[in-house]
Amino acid sequence: MFKKLFRQNENFIDGELSPELPLPKHVAIIMDGNGRWAKKRFLPRIAGHKEGMNVVKKITRYANEMGIEVLTLYAFSTENWKRPTDEVDFLMKLPVEFFDTFVPELIQENVKVNVMGYRDNLPLHTLRAVEKAIEDTKHCTGLVLNFALNYGSRAEIVTAMKEAICELENAGKKADEITETDIEKHLMTNGLGDPDLLIRTSGELRLSNFMLWQLAYSEFYFTDVHWPDFTEEDFLEAMIDYQNRSRRFGGL
Ligand code: IPE
Ligand code: IPE
Ligand code: MG
Repeated sequence: MFKKLFRQNENFIDGELSPELPLPKHVAIIMDGNGRWAKKRFLPRIAGHKEGMNVVKKITRYANEMGIEVLTLYAFSTENWKRPTDEVDFLMKLPVEFFDTFVPELIQENVKVNVMGYRDNLPLHTLRAVEKAIEDTKHCTGLVLNFALNYGSRAEIVTAMKEAICELENAGKKADEITETDIEKHLMTNGLGDPDLLIRTSGELRLSNFMLWQLAYSEFYFTDVHWPDFTEEDFLEAMIDYQNRSRRFGGL
């Protein structure tokens, strides 16, 4: 089932997940290229976002079947508010439609929804949909489907620093006593662990303010495929590629 032909050094070779090698526990994806996908088809950008939502459903099912523990998806950045109002409005309505149609299946498949990001400036309908999905799936123990919505990593680090310093002061400690753990526990990913693998679609080779702290030792995988065209096979190819990496964490 988890088998495919994949490209390596210009040749197509038989690729297969190895039962001996570990899979990433936490996969993070920068789902990029919705707009370009639509443009290529002479469609409005929002058509790309809509199709992208269906791909989220497909990849969530597949990652859960594969036994991935956490799937973090970058859905809207703190910088995406710069886009035209129509597009932002559409993007803020998508979670409502997504959760309305998909939560029953998520519950059936034991998938738990988590959302990280700044919630205060989300429109009310978006916020309600997010809170309801989290509440409705809070008992689930399978894959954690973690959406980064109105998320920005620099802001996240600043917030975490402020909270850590506050905590430190309350404990009567000095600034030079602050540790990595003190900061880490105030990050929005607290409890989810760092991504083992980061995937970015559509050929852009940058992080766009995504999980700057958490990606310190993650493996990176870039593909030219636009997110609405991303398939289970593409996901599998990334998993096989991951299994062939040698993670050293600075050691030997
Ligand atoms: C990713 O696709 C989705 C969001 C950023 C919300 P884009 O909308 O960035 O698509 P491109 O990069 O313009 O093609
Ligand atoms: C990053 O993509 C944000 C999401 C995928 C939600 P962008 O399309 O916003 O990033 P840039 O602007 O190309 O760096
Ligand atoms: Mg983009």
